Amino acid sequence: MKKSVLFVAATLVLNTLGMDAQQVNKKDPQVKKRIEKLIKRMTLEEKVSLLHGNSKFYVEAIPRLGIPEWALSDGPHGVRAEINRHDWAYAGWTNDSATYFPTGTAFAAAWNPGLAYRRGEVLGEEARFRGKDVLLGPGVNIIRSPLNGRNFEYMSEDPFLNAKLTVPYIQGLQSRDVAASVKHYALNNQETERTTIDVYASERALREIYLPPFKAAVEEGGALTVMCAYNKFRGEFCSENHYLVRDILKGEWGFDGVYMTDWNAAHSTVGLAMNGLDLEMGTDKADYNDWFYAKPLIEAVQNGEVPESVVDEMVGNVLRVMIRTNVLDPKKRFSNASMNTPEHQYEAYRSAVEAVVLLKNENNVLPINIDQIKSVAIIGDNATRRHSDGGLSSEIKALYEVTPLEAFQKKYGDKVEINYALGYEKLSTFVEGANNGQSAGYFTDGGGLDEKVLDEAIEAARKSDVAIIFCGLNHDYDTESADKQYMQLPYGQTELIAEISKVNPNTVVVVIAGSPVDLVAPSICAPAIVWGWFNGMEAGNAFADILTGKENPSGKMPFTLAYSLDQYPAHAFNNYPGRKGVVNYDEGILVGYRWFDTKKQPVVYPFGHGLSYTTFEYGQLSTDKQVYGTDDVVKVSFTLTNTGSRQGGEVAQLYVSDVESSVCRPSKELKGFDKVFLEPGETRTVEISVPVSELAFYDETQRKFVVEPGEFQFHIAASAGDIKNTVSIQVQ
Ligand code: BGC
Repeated sequence: MKKSVLFVAATLVLNTLGMDAQQVNKKDPQVKKRIEKLIKRMTLEEKVSLLHGNSKFYVEAIPRLGIPEWALSDGPHGVRAEINRHDWAYAGWTNDSATYFPTGTAFAAAWNPGLAYRRGEVLGEEARFRGKDVLLGPGVNIIRSPLNGRNFEYMSEDPFLNAKLTVPYIQGLQSRDVAASVKHYALNNQETERTTIDVYASERALREIYLPPFKAAVEEGGALTVMCAYNKFRGEFCSENHYLVRDILKGEWGFDGVYMTDWNAAHSTVGLAMNGLDLEMGTDKADYNDWFYAKPLIEAVQNGEVPESVVDEMVGNVLRVMIRTNVLDPKKRFSNASMNTPEHQYEAYRSAVEAVVLLKNENNVLPINIDQIKSVAIIGDNATRRHSDGGLSSEIKALYEVTPLEAFQKKYGDKVEINYALGYEKLSTFVEGANNGQSAGYFTDGGGLDEKVLDEAIEAARKSDVAIIFCGLNHDYDTESADKQYMQLPYGQTELIAEISKVNPNTVVVVIAGSPVDLVAPSICAPAIVWGWFNGMEAGNAFADILTGKENPSGKMPFTLAYSLDQYPAHAFNNYPGRKGVVNYDEGILVGYRWFDTKKQPVVYPFGHGLSYTTFEYGQLSTDKQVYGTDDVVKVSFTLTNTGSRQGGEVAQLYVSDVESSVCRPSKELKGFDKVFLEPGETRTVEISVPVSELAFYDETQRKFVVEPGEFQFHIAASAGDIKNTVSIQVQ
């Protein structure tokens, strides 16, 4: 199917589904009756059996009531291979290879809600094929520190962008009768001391930065399950945090699905039950009867510590999710199942193409005209490395993963000479027992460049017309369970890039990484830089097509690339990874570009930055009115013209500044965006709507969001660092 057709179709479905999701969220009297009937027929033991795992990823069946075993599976960018029932080893199935999508930050870099919806659909179809009812993802936490090992699984440093992509992902997934599990609720921003760290953030930071993606997932996306974070928030574990769960998630947002633990994140029985936890998974006790929500829960009910009505409420939540995803209707349950279809692979390819960000392109080094060159050097460990099977819980047994070198060889091997050289070696070493004993350890750089390996790469670059270095990180660094220890490129890659750039003026650096790295030196010495991400099974094809101009890059950075680690707010305040088990988010709401802009800090590449092989011109910006009430919607419009000679996509970004405010507000905040594809010479009028309520800040005294009257500036921009036009409005 053509991209434009597919995109329109996905958007249409998306709009219709937005309505459906809300309807599903309303209390359905028939579902309620069915739940009550089932609960009435259950013994206490049967009820409790539905509230905890009976193995690593399954929940017990109650055959006499027609309740099958409930199947959960990781993860956010593909359905994970089958794991043994009672240990973490892979089961060794031969039919559990899956479609592998670009990971979280790559997903965000595409800035495309239509793609997000389709990704959800594909994941849903494959989960169904594998017999899964719940797919554990998406991960929607905010990127606070470049060092967080799980940044690659999450999305961006901006809550608005995360929310806008999370909603269609969930709707797409759940349209296939698979429940999403939005994770990790909440403030899960580091892996150091991940199971004990106690996070303190202001109410304002909580409401404006850390909660919005979860709120949107529940209220707009209709997410059916939510997974807790391992960490504590204000002294209480997130699994049993009364404020986060009872007050906000289930109270304010009206969530009536399943709130589950992360694997082995339960710490009590009564605490969990009274604070709203519905499902215990992954507890590290061999006998399932010993789990907090097994025999101890039965006893707590029997001795009056937990009212049976609380157990009924949890069971009701589990049954409600089962009913909404057809788990209790055997004929319908797996009707949306398919696996590894060409359409799925096409979606993985489109997602990969749209994620690639062109950071720099001096002298039009890119795109490479394959017909006009005789040779190309392909350099770097990441030119041949597959990444699908790394990173821990989100690892995928990909049906295939095309590496960059394979793609170049297959597509152009008969046209040009390909001179491959390793360049640098993946020599990370494991440091045992690090992170205060909270994780097994972490990987660190195993040393600099080997002279011989470097010389071979220099020679390959010298004798080639173009040199492409596939560098960056791998899942030794971007991984669950350990943070990175520094932001520099490991293994001497910075030196490699400098040396190659010296001998070849057409050097292209392709960064394969899922979190911010130090690009200061490469941005000075290399004429072209592309950010390629852990980009899924079609990564190599996408890179080859973008680098040779078959496809035009249209991704934009989902995080800021600053000059140094201590420029990032968490580090500037020395508030990472915390002290004595506590981390204070003293930077408050000034996370990511909100900080760099407000503090006027120079950066290497700003949030939202990304170039194209064509050029775009932004026309005059206007709003439908001048003066607005607090219930109004501001309709912003502007023209966008493709002024170059190639078809291309531009993510136009709308930022808003509050000019007069009684509290500190970020210099500007993202409030809208649109990814627009234009033919050469084509002009389109783009409209973006912003409800005035979106201009609010969280007032800690009144404990609610407040829009203060006065002037607001709307900026249309190509990135947080490249404002094209500004217009002012008044709110009365
Ligand atoms: C991770 C979760 C994951 C779960 C099951 C945990 O270690 O934090 O994200 O879904 O394991 O594999």
